[in-house]
Amino acid sequence: MEDRKKDHIALAFESQLGINQLDNRFYYEPLLAAHPGDIDFQLNVGGKKVRSPFWVSSMTGGTQKAGYINRNLAKACAQYGMGMGLGSCRILLDSPEYFEDFNLRPIIGNDLPLFANIGIAQLENALEEPILSDWLNLLDKLDVDGLIVHVNPLQEWMQPEGDFIKHPPIETIEAALGLYPYPIIVKEVGQGFGLQSIQKLCKLPLEAIDFGANGGTNFTLLELLRADELRAKIFGPVAQIGHSAEEMVDMVNSIADQDSNDIAFDKIIISGGIKHFLDGYYLHEKSILPALIGQASTMLTYALDSFEELDRFLHLQHQGWTLCKSYLTLKK
Ligand SMILES: Cc1cc2nc3c(=O)[nH]c(=O)nc-3n(C[C@H](O)[C@H](O)[C@H](O)COP(=O)(O)O)c2cc1C
Repeated sequence: MEDRKKDHIALAFESQLGINQLDNRFYYEPLLAAHPGDIDFQLNVGGKKVRSPFWVSSMTGGTQKAGYINRNLAKACAQYGMGMGLGSCRILLDSPEYFEDFNLRPIIGNDLPLFANIGIAQLENALEEPILSDWLNLLDKLDVDGLIVHVNPLQEWMQPEGDFIKHPPIETIEAALGLYPYPIIVKEVGQGFGLQSIQKLCKLPLEAIDFGANGGTNFTLLELLRADELRAKIFGPVAQIGHSAEEMVDMVNSIADQDSNDIAFDKIIISGGIKHFLDGYYLHEKSILPALIGQASTMLTYALDSFEELDRFLHLQHQGWTLCKSYLTLKK
């Protein structure tokens, strides 16, 4: 007790926050709730129930560390009731020896959503060439609940070895919805979607859209970091194009506000640059549609290290969410 009182005196001078550092997004209501217990959250994704508002965004496979990272992530999903998107599964068609990197169903278990991932250019090919059955067999083997299609024209354009997209992606997605009998999620990879793209997606019977908004990992920038100097200089400013997760929540809300029947799916994954639970909670509460908070690089930071580090981070992040639920409401 005496030590604690001494600490308080010593640290009081270090714990001064200026008025400009206040987070003005929330009302803080200390009177209305006891300290929270366990997290209380449920949402149906692909016919399975998640028990966490956080979603592991699609990442890796086919590299030396990928299996280790993916197994850590899947184990954490099982522990916290999170859903997960696999990284692009394209590599498995040519190099089946990487299957174990992606074989996460035995770890995540049967009760949580696990989605495979394909790029729009590969989906285009799969629909045009006789390899659709190879894809369908692969998805069966992975025992996934659905497919995430990443739409990444800027990344493919910046990538020296990138694929050429021959048709408007919306047409390819529409065609896939007619052929693929499982739930489909559509995402970007760090640039987000503009209003017209969101409006088009809202009309499709998707499982969800996953923003992949600008503000975090940005694959246009990432590819330019791999490019030669002139290419990087000429295309550099393109990385700054796109939409933040907040702008995208506002755009989806504006459509839902007019008529929520205009949206053919019942949830969104808010992702792209969500590093802190306060930002995730703010956007989650702001969204009219039920939402999950997707994180890629933030999860990766800890999953790369060890399962124990990831577990510690997720434990605190979920605790943070329960504090938000108990004491914070949004300023409109
Ligand atoms: C290492 C890494 C690999 C990724 N690979 C994929 C991928 O294969 N497919 C995909 O749809 N998105 C991929 N992404 C993009 C993420 O799913 C996410 O949309 C993007 O990183 C923005 O989220 P963040 O700011 O939380 O990282 C990858 C991201 C990272 C960091």
